[in-house]
Amino acid sequence: MTAARVFVTRRLPDAWRAPLAEAGLAVDAAGADDPLTPAELRTRAAGAAALWVQLNDAVDAALLDAAGPGLRVVATYSVGTNHIDLAACRERGVVVVHTPDVLTDATADLAMALLLAAARRLPEGQRLVESGGWTGWAPTQLLGVELRGRTLGVVGLGRIGAAVARRARAFGMRIAYHQRRARPDVAAPLEADYEADLEALLARSDVLTLHAPLTPDTRHLLDARRLRLLPRGALLVNTARGPLVDEAALVDALRDGHLAGAGLDVYEEEPRVHPGLLALPHVVLAPHLGSATVDTRRAMARLCTDAIVAVLRGERPANALA
Ligand code: GLV
Repeated sequence: MTAARVFVTRRLPDAWRAPLAEAGLAVDAAGADDPLTPAELRTRAAGAAALWVQLNDAVDAALLDAAGPGLRVVATYSVGTNHIDLAACRERGVVVVHTPDVLTDATADLAMALLLAAARRLPEGQRLVESGGWTGWAPTQLLGVELRGRTLGVVGLGRIGAAVARRARAFGMRIAYHQRRARPDVAAPLEADYEADLEALLARSDVLTLHAPLTPDTRHLLDARRLRLLPRGALLVNTARGPLVDEAALVDALRDGHLAGAGLDVYEEEPRVHPGLLALPHVVLAPHLGSATVDTRRAMARLCTDAIVAVLRGERPANALA
């Protein structure tokens, strides 16, 4: 009998894929860091029992059909699943697995890094030093925002949102949050106030951090009008998904000084970044690095390999979604 084939859509260290071969599966891995085109994905997926995909590979009905009826599992190397047509997977009996929990701390650390860098204007400081134009300490140079006593508004107090809130508490921030239902169990240790109305949360957030999934309902959750509900001088941090924010409206709100700064790890049309953002001094721009630590990426790989092996053995892993 030929071994079941697992198609991995991107170059990954051998050690991270090794458990698949150890389980007797045939691993076919793409050799590049850049995404394959949809047509290349469809060709390579044909006949696979498992697809190990990345967050910038669209898993749609056409890809599932190209893989064929032998496809049993799609493992995404991400916690977010907005690139996957979950209903199409369900219809075809394909199990979807993702990588929750193991990336919570790394992503929360990055959100804090962006928050601190935006609040203390580190990119402007770095550019000033690098330019050779720094003439020395000055009383009013690059004055930033102090975090103690300020309110962090958290949109989505899930695993990552709560981890960011815990870190912000250590910096003396107050926490308020919004999501569909209150989570008193999570909120109590953070002394976090629940706002049932997103707009009420915006009005009281000195810093807003986004931790909502991208769905048709959350696309442009922060549109031009809502961005203006944030207090003048507020900061925005987005480590969730770019399309949660209307990027053109964000540029306007930053450009006219309504917002004092932003720390962004995600963009509406990655890897394209709105040229207006690139031209602004008071934004911190990271290239989607939320889970990018060696430990976290290794743990994510282990979750994917274990889940693929489990599904192909007829088991249902804990990180299965559909
Ligand atoms: C990163 O954005 C992820 O969804 O894991």
